[in-house]
Amino acid sequence: MKSSLFLKGLAVSVLALLAKAKTLPDLYEASIAELQDGLAGGDFTSVDLVKAYFARIDEVNLKGPALRAVLETNPSALSQAASLDQERKEFGPRGLLHGIPILIKDNIATIASEGLNTTAGSFSLLKSIVPEDAGVIKKLRAAGAIILGKASLSEWAHFRGNVASGWSGRGGQGTNAYFPNADPCGSSSGSGIATSIGLTAVSLGTETDGSITCPTSNNNLAGIKVTVGLTSRAGVIPISEHQDTVGPICRSLTDAAAVLSVIAGTDPNDNFTFAQPLPVPNFSLAVKNPNALRGARIGVPRKVFTNDTITGNDPFVNVVFEQAIQTIKGLGATVVDPADLPTAEQIAVSNNETLVLDIDFKIQLNKYFEGLLANPSGVRSLADLIAFNNANALLEEPVNFTDQSELIESQGTNGMNSTYFQALAFDKELGGTNGIDAVLKEHNLDALILPAPGLTTVPAAIAGYPIVTVPLGFYPDNVTIGSAGPLTLYPAPGVPLGLSFLGTAFSEFRLIELAFAYEQKTKTRLARKAFPAAIPKTQLIDVIGK
Ligand SMILES: *[C@@H]1O[C@H](CO)[C@@H](O)[C@H](O)[C@H]1NC(C)=O
Ligand SMILES: *[C@@H]1O[C@H](CO)[C@@H](O)[C@H](O)[C@H]1NC(C)=O
Ligand SMILES: *[C@@H]1O[C@H](CO)[C@@H](O)[C@H](O)[C@H]1NC(C)=O
Ligand SMILES: *[C@@H]1O[C@H](CO)[C@@H](O)[C@H](O)[C@H]1NC(C)=O
Ligand SMILES: *[C@@H]1O[C@H](CO)[C@@H](O)[C@H](O)[C@H]1NC(C)=O
Ligand SMILES: *[C@@H]1O[C@H](CO)[C@@H](O)[C@H](O)[C@H]1NC(C)=O
Ligand SMILES: *[C@@H]1O[C@H](CO)[C@@H](O)[C@H](O)[C@H]1NC(C)=O
Ligand SMILES: *[C@@H]1O[C@H](CO)[C@@H](O)[C@H](O)[C@H]1NC(C)=O
Repeated sequence: MKSSLFLKGLAVSVLALLAKAKTLPDLYEASIAELQDGLAGGDFTSVDLVKAYFARIDEVNLKGPALRAVLETNPSALSQAASLDQERKEFGPRGLLHGIPILIKDNIATIASEGLNTTAGSFSLLKSIVPEDAGVIKKLRAAGAIILGKASLSEWAHFRGNVASGWSGRGGQGTNAYFPNADPCGSSSGSGIATSIGLTAVSLGTETDGSITCPTSNNNLAGIKVTVGLTSRAGVIPISEHQDTVGPICRSLTDAAAVLSVIAGTDPNDNFTFAQPLPVPNFSLAVKNPNALRGARIGVPRKVFTNDTITGNDPFVNVVFEQAIQTIKGLGATVVDPADLPTAEQIAVSNNETLVLDIDFKIQLNKYFEGLLANPSGVRSLADLIAFNNANALLEEPVNFTDQSELIESQGTNGMNSTYFQALAFDKELGGTNGIDAVLKEHNLDALILPAPGLTTVPAAIAGYPIVTVPLGFYPDNVTIGSAGPLTLYPAPGVPLGLSFLGTAFSEFRLIELAFAYEQKTKTRLARKAFPAAIPKTQLIDVIGK
């Protein structure tokens, strides 16, 4: 009797344990909504979440497949989580990001006293003291997000010279989780790699030209490159104020919309943000309607990619892109194909972007260095940086990563001049008024679609316009493996690629609506997982109560 009661009790508690295990989300895929449910229900705490993500990072970052996605974890993350847990208990959550860990690209400043460095991947900024948090970090902290750590990146957001995507002096070569040593793309490579396998709930990247779109594409993710001025660049290690943007890189558009709602908005430290229409939309309202493509008009600006060495010449990209067009038609949209940018040929041969970036980078990077409260390396200018790299060649110019041609070219410029102002105006015309805006108007379109890989980001980059990217497909298992750098492969079997939705300035809400409908119909992200060794094993059940 007694023993059967005992057995019954045991069975009940085992069942309860199983039920609990069943309700815990798998961190490989867990959404913000699932994490908020578990936090609200007391199934786990934000402290548990941080512990679990730290353990998952530890499993694959330098050990195992050595993906090199994360440069540093935040020594203050556990105490931040504990105080946010306490606040939740007493007052409830502040919003969708309360207690949610977020990984930050290492070119976005976080206050030094917290313990994290802000370096753009370069030893020249190690232990530098930034004056304050970046504008987007202030907004994240106010929303209750936890800064989990700093993501690796292509050094200087890939404005250094011809070095492989995902490589930095501090981080080494980051690699893709879908095939050993495949190209993660950059420059927000670490944000992409880490988010793809659940080393973090969500992440932030930055894009000047392609740096959110491409890692989103290569890592099977949903990313938003915003209109210049929607999110603050204050405290972001710059390339150019005319093109730099900060945006979310997440596993779903639903998560990306939640992050964007928090980081968008004005910032007195970045006057470009005052150009945005107010109030900031609640972007979570753009991810409600799976039928949003019905009745929409979508254009295919083919000339943007037909000559592209990555996208246009790749038969497989064309196969999955044609499938996407059929899917979009099936969802009730009218597809105008081709709907070419009148300026496509001019953009392809234009050097205006390079000219603007070269001149802006020197001015703005020098200003960033000057604004630091301290920099132990002694580097206080672009000229110092070039000399530092040469003097520390083992760290910053190892064999096959010696190139700093872009730094040198930028250093050779002498400030804004009449050619610069002309080039800036040409860029706005080529990408914007005579480019994207012209074709949207000509065919009365809601948006354009393009394969995400390759140079398809240029028109939006030079215009300062938005791109929303979602998963499109995966390279087949029999693809001929190519090279993307001395240490990386592309294409390679199973490596993901994305579909981009483009539009005019500040059309993010509409682009998210349209891309969401496609994402919900296809659910491509779930069709394929990372290679087994790249999938971390630690789950919440392993850390709860420990
Ligand atoms: C920041 O860099 C310094 C110098 O290498 C290092 O001691 C410190 O641990 C770094 N911070 C983190 C969180 O890794
Ligand atoms: C921002 O301010 C700077 C100088 O204060 C000025 O040169 C620039 O034109 C302003 N930019 C915008 C977009 O208002
Ligand atoms: C935004 O919309 C979402 C979805 O309806 C809602 O959960 C959230 O509370 C809203 N956020 C704000 C700040 O109103
Ligand atoms: C593509 O290449 C062909 C052949 O070189 C050229 O005639 C055409 O103008 C190019 N198209 C674009 C959009 O650059
Ligand atoms: C800038 O664009 C204009 C318009 O297409 C073109 O005429 C000019 O040659 C370009 N300048 C450079 C430096 O490429
Ligand atoms: C402006 O600066 C650029 C970059 O150094 C240079 O190529 C161009 O010739 C300059 N233009 C004038 C008018 O000096
Ligand atoms: C890969 O397989 C597909 C279908 O199984 C075939 O059509 C294609 O030719 C193959 N490609 C290569 C490079 O072998
Ligand atoms: C540098 O790259 C070349 C060409 O890819 C390769 O053969 C060589 O082994 C590389 N050297 C090192 C030290 O990685």
